[in-house]
Amino acid sequence: MARKKFLMGNWKMNHTIAEAIRFCEDVKNDSLLKIARSKGVLLGVAPSFLSLQQVKRHAHGLIVASQDCHYEDHGAYTSSVSVPMLNEIGINWSIIGHSERRTYDNDTSFVCNRKIKTLVKNGFHVVYCVGETLKEYEEGLTKDIVKEQILVGLMNVSKEDISKIVIAYEPVWSIGTGKNASSEIAEDVCSYIRSLIEKLYGKVAASKILILYGGSVKPNNIHEYLLQENVDGALVGGASLKSESFKELLENI
Ligand code: PGA
Repeated sequence: MARKKFLMGNWKMNHTIAEAIRFCEDVKNDSLLKIARSKGVLLGVAPSFLSLQQVKRHAHGLIVASQDCHYEDHGAYTSSVSVPMLNEIGINWSIIGHSERRTYDNDTSFVCNRKIKTLVKNGFHVVYCVGETLKEYEEGLTKDIVKEQILVGLMNVSKEDISKIVIAYEPVWSIGTGKNASSEIAEDVCSYIRSLIEKLYGKVAASKILILYGGSVKPNNIHEYLLQENVDGALVGGASLKSESFKELLENI
C-alpha cells in the first residue's frame, strides 16, 4: 500500500495564541483539510507549548504536535513540560531532536532516545529529526552522523512502537538558510534512512515508515522533494507560518 504524504509545520517560537487561533480559522475557511484528504496528505502543525491547547481546540482535524517534551513524567525540571501534561490537553504527537534543540539545549541522541521511549510508552507519535551540520556535510560525514542519530535515538524502541515514529531528515545547513538541499541529496539520505530501518526493524516496517525532508522547503520547491521515492513529506518552518503559504505548500504536493 502506498504511504501517505505528510506536511508538518514547525512554528518554533512564533505565533501568539491569538495568531495561532487565526491560523486555524484560516485553515477551516480555506477547507485545507478537505484538500488534504482529497490528496491523501496528513496535515499538522507544531505550535509553542502555550498555544497547544487552543490550537487543539480550533484545529478542526489538523495533527497538533508539541515541539519537544521532557523524558520524565514529573520532577524538578524548571520550565519543562512532561508527556502526561501534554496528554491531558489531548496532544499525542511530538517533534523530538530538532537541530535547534540539539544545538541550543544540548539534546543529544541519548536524550532524544529517553524522550522517544517515554512518548511511545504513552501512545504518542513522534517526528524524530536527524541531520548533519555544514562541517559534517563538507567532510562527507552525512550518513555516519544520520546513522548514529538513528541507532541511538531509536535504541530499545520496539518493533511495535516503530509504527509510531516518523523520521525527518533535516540537514542543519539548510534550516532557515534558504539553502535547501537538492532533491537528489534528500532522496539519497532518506533512502539510506529507510535501509537503516529495514536492517533494524525489517522490510514491512521500512516500507511503512514515513520519512520527511526539512530545510528551506517552500511552495516553489516542495513538489520536487515529494516526487522522490523515499521522501514522504516535509517538515517546514518559515513557510508554514502564514496560512496562505501553508495552503500553497499543500496545493503543490
Ligand atoms: P525552515 O525550517 O523551513 O524554516 O528551513 C525547517 C525546520 O526547522 O524544520
